[in-house]
Amino acid sequence: MAASSTAGPAPALAVGLSVLLGGCGSDEPVGYESQAVFGSSLSGGDTTVEDASPNAFGFSARNMTSERRGDFFVGNSFFKQNWVEAPASTTGRDGLGPLFNARSCSTCHFKDGRGTPPQPGQPSESILFRVSVVGTGPHGGPKDHPAYGGQLQPRALPGVSPEGDVRITWQPRWVELAGGENVELRAPEFEWLDLGYGPPNGLLMSARVAPQMIGLGLLEAIDEATLTSWEDPNDVDGDGVRGVMNAVWDAQAAEMRVGRFGWKANQPNLRQQTAGALLGDMGLTTSVFTNQNCGAQQPECAAKLSGGKPEVSALILDTMVFYSSTLAVPARRDVDSPVNLQGEQLFEAIGCATCHRSTVRTGVHPTLPEVSEQLIHPYTDLLLHDMGDELADGRPDFKASGRQWRTPPLWGIGLFGTVSRHTNYLHDGRARNIQEAILWHGGEGKASRDMYAKLGRNDRAALLSFLESL
Ligand code: HEC
Ligand code: HEC
Repeated sequence: MAASSTAGPAPALAVGLSVLLGGCGSDEPVGYESQAVFGSSLSGGDTTVEDASPNAFGFSARNMTSERRGDFFVGNSFFKQNWVEAPASTTGRDGLGPLFNARSCSTCHFKDGRGTPPQPGQPSESILFRVSVVGTGPHGGPKDHPAYGGQLQPRALPGVSPEGDVRITWQPRWVELAGGENVELRAPEFEWLDLGYGPPNGLLMSARVAPQMIGLGLLEAIDEATLTSWEDPNDVDGDGVRGVMNAVWDAQAAEMRVGRFGWKANQPNLRQQTAGALLGDMGLTTSVFTNQNCGAQQPECAAKLSGGKPEVSALILDTMVFYSSTLAVPARRDVDSPVNLQGEQLFEAIGCATCHRSTVRTGVHPTLPEVSEQLIHPYTDLLLHDMGDELADGRPDFKASGRQWRTPPLWGIGLFGTVSRHTNYLHDGRARNIQEAILWHGGEGKASRDMYAKLGRNDRAALLSFLESL
């Protein structure tokens, strides 16, 4: 079962590969350093669970001791259950709002899976809209809008105006693949809806669906030195792919740190990400973020009773962070089928693995033995890449420009349909399947995308089959 990072191509793959290289008009050997996994199913190392059911994203790390499972289950219950307005008879779960996006984490991270843009006419459920104005705020982060802050909250307690919502409409667009096949993509158009605190003058906006929750502690455990070694800001190796780390404000350490989480690597660690979600998405204060998220122009918000100081105790926050850090990664399926092995080979050959790095060993995590020193296959470098105009949101987030996104991990993506009951990909969920996600790649990802579009039908099918097996 042990994966090898140096395995060479299996002989049976040679044919597909030569066709591919011919198709790209080059006889040169491919210049990418091989990091193929070839048939390893244990994407999350010893945390990996064998499950491909609708519950596949909800398990604790397989290597967690039974004593520690208790905390995981407590964290799970706070993740799943609805918070209520303060004061309430059920202490421990009150303090919601005054402004909020959802009543529970799992409204958006349903079954710990991927969020989606709403159906036409429906309100936003598992997508959120970050906002800001031009310029930088404290520590070089986004500059809050004076009325709407850093995130649009479409819901509010009685007596407080919600901030509003966004209507998404879709514009069709066609691209052509080798062999003349036409594929329809859909591009989002956004329109402000029912804004409660004045016109959106100068408001920058970034639409982001909720990411899946699996394997996050493993990503936190990757050594910073490893990430540094992957950066290539000046494209020294000449492959057209740069890749840089974000640097973001760590509120607890009170210093700048590497960004790892969020679509722009805009959060430094899972504790701050969780506390940020409690405040931003549900209006709940913690020891990390002590002030209610009411803007200067929202007096009814500020006048509402709160549920204690802080509203979420350190103990509850700890269990929620523990939960977020220790969800297992599900095992791959059919890793040894010839078509998936061929697809894996192509994934490397056309440069996908340059950003979606297949293999890394995690370092020692200060508090989580489960995720320490694991050989994992996350298919990400956690770095920011310029993905071109069409994916750009035009809203900088610390060092991330309006065109840059963090490479998302691809582990588990073949299970979205089963777990989340949709197969929408990319930061705003515009891609309706994996092929559409690939075809949207621009900027540093364009060369790779173009090679995909030039592949023959069978090679494309093999690559997609490999991705479905993740
Ligand atoms: C309104 C929907 C929504 C709610 C509610 C929500 N999240 Fe999220 N979550 C998101 C979105 C969107 C992102 C990506 C944010 C970004 O890119 O800035 C995210 C990101 C995350 C991440 C980082 C994942 C990654 O791959 O980088 C974690 C961890 C997380 N949320 C945990 C939580 C927890 C814990 C709660 C409850 C306290 C919660 N979320 C509530 C939408 C939501
Ligand atoms: C230059 C770096 C880079 C290269 C090369 C690259 N990707 Fe990506 N990929 C990204 C980034 C960044 C995103 C997120 C973009 C967004 O959401 O707007 C992404 C998103 C994706 C997604 C959607 C994931 C999700 O969770 O929604 C898939 C699938 C994917 N890439 C597959 C591929 C395949 C297959 C290839 C090779 C043809 C490839 N990528 C090449 C950087 C890259």
